[in-house]
Amino acid sequence: MHDIGIVYAKVADVETYLEKLVLSDPLRDPTILQAIRALELPEGSRGLDAGCGVGSQTLMLAEAVGTSGHVTGLDASAEFLAHARGLAEQSDLSEQVSFRQGNVNELPLDDNTFDWAWSVDCVGQSTVGEPLTALQELARVVRPGGRVAILGYSSQMLLPGYPLLEARLNATASATTFLAKGEKPEAHFLRALGWFREAGFAEPKARTVVGTVHAPLDDTIRRALISLFGMLWGEMQFKMAQADREEYQRLADPESADFILDSPDYYAFFNYSMFEGRVSAPTDCW
Ligand SMILES: C[S@@+](CC[C@H](N)C(=O)[O-])C[C@H]1O[C@@H](n2cnc3c(N)ncnc32)[C@H](O)[C@@H]1O
Repeated sequence: MHDIGIVYAKVADVETYLEKLVLSDPLRDPTILQAIRALELPEGSRGLDAGCGVGSQTLMLAEAVGTSGHVTGLDASAEFLAHARGLAEQSDLSEQVSFRQGNVNELPLDDNTFDWAWSVDCVGQSTVGEPLTALQELARVVRPGGRVAILGYSSQMLLPGYPLLEARLNATASATTFLAKGEKPEAHFLRALGWFREAGFAEPKARTVVGTVHAPLDDTIRRALISLFGMLWGEMQFKMAQADREEYQRLADPESADFILDSPDYYAFFNYSMFEGRVSAPTDCW
């Protein structure tokens, strides 16, 4: 196995990263649930959550496959896995999930172990490695006829009424999130249909799931949105013209009198793109 510590050396502060993941769950969970439902995972099936993070989705997937199913959460980070195990123990799904440490590019798992595999904001991200390698690994551990799905956060409208400011913010940051500087367009997450084809999957498909929030916002959603503003634009605002930066701060600073999340008209949406394919086997399917 590669040294998975290397993956983690890229994350400056694991604790802060963990907090951000936990904070974002209330915002993302209903959207991720739409994606899980769209997959129609068979009752009693066995699945892999690759890059499971703090394990929230591992539990949602376990709920979807019912008490006779099982989901394995795999992640590179021992810290995240400890959090995931704690979360599972507090739930009534602890028997239906297990967790293990590993690298999605070199899975410590046998061939044909699962009926399906899924990965959110992990496989396909430029920091995780070559997507074909991870997809081939996922295809190896899923039985022929089973399915592999990868999801990635893909776009948003978070500043209603300020389309030009939001476009300029996006032009500095989130528009390039999945595309490392200098890479080919084919390496962008939104070109993942091509990766599935190249990795030999049958029936590659793409879907978009949309999350919507609007006023009045409860505290957990407010905190998640503030964190999302910071993740998308927190640093990039300093690369903008002063007038834009001031307008962004007026709208996105919780201390500002014009903080946009306090608007009684606040409405926002964001998208996850989900790509899936079937592990090639002409006769076997669910
Ligand atoms: C943005 S988080 C997403 C976590 C979770 N899927 C979610 O959506 O909440 C990315 C996760 O991928 C994990 N990760 C990054 N590179 C990895 C690798 N090569 N193998 C396994 N996990 C990896 C990180 O530890 C982190 O938990």
